[in-house]
Amino acid sequence: MAVDVLLGLQWGDEGKGKIVDYLADKYQIVGRFQGGPNAGHTLWIDGKKTVLHTIPSGIFHEHLVNVIGNGVVIDPITLMKEIDGLEAGGNEVRSRLSISRKAHLILPTHKLLDMASEASKGEMKIGSTLRGIGPCYMDKTGRNGLRIGDILSGSFDEKYQSLKEKHLHLLKLYPAIEYDLQPEEENWFAAIERVRKLNLIDAEYFVNERLKAGESILAEGAQGMMLDIDFGTYPYVTSSNTITSGVCNGLGIPPSAIRNVLGVTKAYCTRVGSGPFPSELDNADGERIRVAGNEFGSTTGRPRRCGWLDIPQLKYATMISGTTHLAITKLDVLNAFETLSVAERYKVGGSVTDQLPFDINEGILDVVHSVHDGWMEEINVTSYDRLPQAVKNFLTYIEDQLGLPISFVSTGPGREELIAR
Ligand code: GDP
Ligand code: IMO
Ligand code: MG
Repeated sequence: MAVDVLLGLQWGDEGKGKIVDYLADKYQIVGRFQGGPNAGHTLWIDGKKTVLHTIPSGIFHEHLVNVIGNGVVIDPITLMKEIDGLEAGGNEVRSRLSISRKAHLILPTHKLLDMASEASKGEMKIGSTLRGIGPCYMDKTGRNGLRIGDILSGSFDEKYQSLKEKHLHLLKLYPAIEYDLQPEEENWFAAIERVRKLNLIDAEYFVNERLKAGESILAEGAQGMMLDIDFGTYPYVTSSNTITSGVCNGLGIPPSAIRNVLGVTKAYCTRVGSGPFPSELDNADGERIRVAGNEFGSTTGRPRRCGWLDIPQLKYATMISGTTHLAITKLDVLNAFETLSVAERYKVGGSVTDQLPFDINEGILDVVHSVHDGWMEEINVTSYDRLPQAVKNFLTYIEDQLGLPISFVSTGPGREELIAR
């Protein structure tokens, strides 16, 4: 019937996976539309933790089809490892999973190129997850890429060798890195053999037929709005469109089919990797948030940079992504703060603004904060009305600033620790 979109409004890791899992029951299809194994979406179900990288977060729901769309880039090794892990935990995966034939493949040499490119940048490195994402999307837009559907063709090995040779040439342009390609290639081809037996489909036909038949789709964003290739803090971004329009490109869905856009934001802000972060707290408060929020990357384990919520950044993100509703996560992480700050405006060159400047990377802006009372108590309620008054005041402030309703408040990592309004 319609497509609802869920995406991150910050620099990723907003808690998207948890909310998708919570909402999935209302849909017949959950689809990933961009990104790849750079993503790490954490679900806590019955006290058990799962981190999903390529597989959509609806996988624990029996009735659902989980679609990996054409806009996603797939590393067959990671994908098969993920499937093995889920199956070893007693979960049904294969009958619930369909993969677009048009999704692009990450080759072992894409990862080498990612590594070499980052190493060559020194201090200016992006802080990539080194999963080969950038080089794979470069081959896609450069019209050299290999797609999932190609693995079914007789000339696949030939195509692979030709692209690999090209990558090995390119690697010579960078300072030398150490690698042993052969074992990685063997694993890759073994994984490809197994991917051939998965449900590989023409996903654009599938989703449109299902929509016509009255079914509903939840499109699951990876990364976050500020990592979008066009509108994020370029060049410190990922290589795909993480915004709502990415759903059309990455699943084959017409814009007119999109209904609601649920933007997910933490009650504060984090970023992993390099690049500007106006509200960053490079001090004891930042460390306090990191410890309370266990802010370490789900994919790479790197410590996440922490800071206060940033209103100009969120205004920008909600504008570009056409957000209709908000989900606020990790509210509980702020339980012990007597006061909370929020970056309410930026000061750029003597004037106050709530717009992101083009040259945000140059560190030219200062932040004007607003200060709010903390609540200094655990949040153990399941209804919005019973939240402490200071929490309600904080949430109302966010709603007023962004002009959007908060529909979900997450108060812990568990599936049930969520208040739906
Ligand atoms: P995603 O990439 O957006 O799906 O988010 P990640 O899984 O990378 O990071 C979010 C982290 O916060 C995970 O460890 C989640 O288990 C955890 N989490 C999600 N929601 C909450 C919450 O409301 N409170 C707390 N304390 N942790 C949460
Ligand atoms: P989820 O879906 C947080 C960041 C990397 C780096 C930049 C580019 O879990 O929210 P890439 O590997 O894409 O070339 O890295 O983007 N990044 C993420 N940060 N969460 C993610 O995904 C991310 N995926 C990529 O840290 O700064
Ligand atoms: Mg994550």
